[in-house]
Amino acid sequence: MLPSPATVVTPATISHPPPPSPWPPLPIFPLVVFFFLLMLVNNLLRRSYHRKPPGKFRLPPGSMGWPYIGETLKLYTENPNSFFSNREKRYGKIFKTHILGCPCVMISSPKLAKRVLVTESHMFKPTYPVSKEKIIGPEAVFFHQGPYHSHLKKLIQSSFLPSTIKGLVPDIEDIVLTLLTTWEHNNTISTLPEMKKYAFEVAMLSVFGKKLDSEIEGIKSLYQCLEKGYNSMPLDLPATPFNKAMKARKCLHEKLRRVIEKRKERGEFGEGLLGALMVSNEAGKMKMKLSESQIADNIIGVIFAAHDTTATAITWLLKYLHDNPHLLHAVTREQEEIRCKRLEAKRRITWDDTRSMLLTTRVIQETLRAASILSFTYREAVEDVEMEGYLIPKGWKVLPLFRSIHYSSQFFPHPHKFDPSRFKVAPQPNTYMPFGSGAHACPGSELAKLEMLIFVHHLTTTFRWEVTGEEGIQYGPFPVPRDGLPIKVYPVKEV
Ligand code: HEM
Repeated sequence: MLPSPATVVTPATISHPPPPSPWPPLPIFPLVVFFFLLMLVNNLLRRSYHRKPPGKFRLPPGSMGWPYIGETLKLYTENPNSFFSNREKRYGKIFKTHILGCPCVMISSPKLAKRVLVTESHMFKPTYPVSKEKIIGPEAVFFHQGPYHSHLKKLIQSSFLPSTIKGLVPDIEDIVLTLLTTWEHNNTISTLPEMKKYAFEVAMLSVFGKKLDSEIEGIKSLYQCLEKGYNSMPLDLPATPFNKAMKARKCLHEKLRRVIEKRKERGEFGEGLLGALMVSNEAGKMKMKLSESQIADNIIGVIFAAHDTTATAITWLLKYLHDNPHLLHAVTREQEEIRCKRLEAKRRITWDDTRSMLLTTRVIQETLRAASILSFTYREAVEDVEMEGYLIPKGWKVLPLFRSIHYSSQFFPHPHKFDPSRFKVAPQPNTYMPFGSGAHACPGSELAKLEMLIFVHHLTTTFRWEVTGEEGIQYGPFPVPRDGLPIKVYPVKEV
């Protein structure tokens, strides 16, 4: 899915003391006046935030921070996990704050998350900063609600159903084998960029099918540009990352337009999501037709959503396996058994093999809980809503905090322990949401898990690895192991 709009500063960047001031000392009187005025404005604005809302409900507890800035600086400079958990301890499962220029209500109870994402989702529309919409394309599925969203979502989902992605297993395996072959002669690997290569190729496969049109060449560097711009300040000035991303987006759009045209000329729509979207436009089949621009925005959006998230998840998986040698040993044993069976039968990995990887599947489930790649999502109240006796005013952002729910000891005992055995029993409803929930839940969850299973099969049976970098987490914007998890790899068998 899309990275959260905020790029969070890593603790490493903020631990340095500020440099000495280059300015001469300021005269004291103007300073006092300035601070007096600031306090005055602060007080006035606070009053307007804390004004008693009309009706019988009051706003949730919490602090709106400073005028304009709210608590944004705190979110950016504290570890975001402690930002949320400290406030949850102080105020409870529903609290207000003010970040990135918006009044927000954060919720960390499964019951309330269900109301926002599932049962009352019509009252909470998806919301993203305009700059993000511009980069991905305003017609992409993430930004919509109602009939256009459901029409698109059905088409996207049908391209990522188990019955559809089953057919991709040999091609995904080929991508894994090609990547791992390059590792044989390359002792030190930076995991995250390698996983991005892998996840990007799988995303391309699922979107364009096995036969890539020549127009698609060069698309990868355009995506890298897009990604940098997405996670940067939205300053549309020459040579800024945002400006370059907007240009890259234009190029991508043009490339896709040509692919669509060529497929139409050939009279065959081809495979993958692009094929499915084009077929749906065939006369008489569907009431709602998609324009070329709508198709292009959604192709760009799905590739964008598919690769960074999955790459981050696999990077965490390698880290957790490395840190828990008993689990790595057990997973390797499970994968060795499957490898023996398939070598005996002289066959490659199959969909059924992946269904028999029970322990590896639980390790993946626990990775997705512990890493909580998307720590939260955003919605906006389309009208005043009452929750637990509090008012969420129309226009306020509402953030279901997936990570806080995943780290609640009420639902996941000893939440800081990496313990895949907890998934021997299904989690309680609405407590486990690595792929979201409701109308906007991730359509790519099965593909992401399949990619992880096939990768683990070949990695554990042909390599050993050692983490060489320092401990720590960075946020860019997803939480990732420090420096993208540098590892030393040792081939133990031929790939
Ligand atoms: C481990 C990998 C992944 C994670 C953790 C993840 C997570 C999520 C989450 C939490 C949402 C819901 C966001 C919300 O409610 O606002 C979402 C939505 C979405 N994801 Fe994923 N995702 C992953 C992989 C993928 C893949 C492989 C695809 C490719 C199809 C994909 C495509 C999408 C799309 C298109 C949406 C938007 C759906 C909508 O708005 O209706 N994701 N994802």
